[in-house]
Amino acid sequence: MRLDVVTIFPEYLEPLNVSLVGKARARGRLDVRIHDLREWTHDKHNTVDDTPYGGGPGMVMKPEPWGEALDAVIESGTGDDKPVIVVPTPSGRPFTQALAVELSEKPWLVFTPARYEGIDRRVIEEYGDRADVREVSIGDYVLAGGEAPVLVMVEAIARLLPGVLGNAESHRDDSFAPGAMADLLEGPVYTKPPEWRGRGIPDVLLSGHHGKIARWRRDEAFRRTVANRPDLIERADPAVFDKKDREM
Ligand code: ADE
Repeated sequence: MRLDVVTIFPEYLEPLNVSLVGKARARGRLDVRIHDLREWTHDKHNTVDDTPYGGGPGMVMKPEPWGEALDAVIESGTGDDKPVIVVPTPSGRPFTQALAVELSEKPWLVFTPARYEGIDRRVIEEYGDRADVREVSIGDYVLAGGEAPVLVMVEAIARLLPGVLGNAESHRDDSFAPGAMADLLEGPVYTKPPEWRGRGIPDVLLSGHHGKIARWRRDEAFRRTVANRPDLIERADPAVFDKKDREM
């Protein structure tokens, strides 16, 4: 997968060199290219923002540098490939595990993290016919810029790429993963030692009984979901619940 990021803070994306994403790059699974938006400015102050039409607080990112930057990035493709342009903004559609899965199947993503009050709207319209443009929000809060959301989205996407996670099964039971437990959060996990500060391990996990362990994990997932995300229970397919859940 090819990943381009156009930003005024290239150094903000340095975490893409470490851990899982860094390894995916080193293994050639991810071709990450970070671009400095200011390279496409032509005045001596490298201006990327200006005051908003209609008045109001803050500054808006100017369309010209974004236009030149995106033209250059798109033209560096083979010509017949159209990228998905992901525009992080608190006004976008929610970033979900389903969207992470969808984006992980695309050959080429271009992220356009903005600062200030966002990018001049005409840029979003301009690229609508040359690319698949998605405005995406990582949550109902406002950050100072889109770079942290890019790190979040790239990590969620990269770990889904084939050959990136050591064990292909490790995302099978993720919270929000499709499947039998699709509507439930992942339950608690334990490792050695068997006793720590007087606290033991639930007996069932030491029983070796796979059926009972699966049932216990499912019940714990249900309990946690009720406690932390009752909204997920409301939305869930009633077919995933059984009589025991209703008694809990
Ligand atoms: N930029 C600022 N806040 C954001 C958010 N919540 N999601 C995506 N991009 C953002």
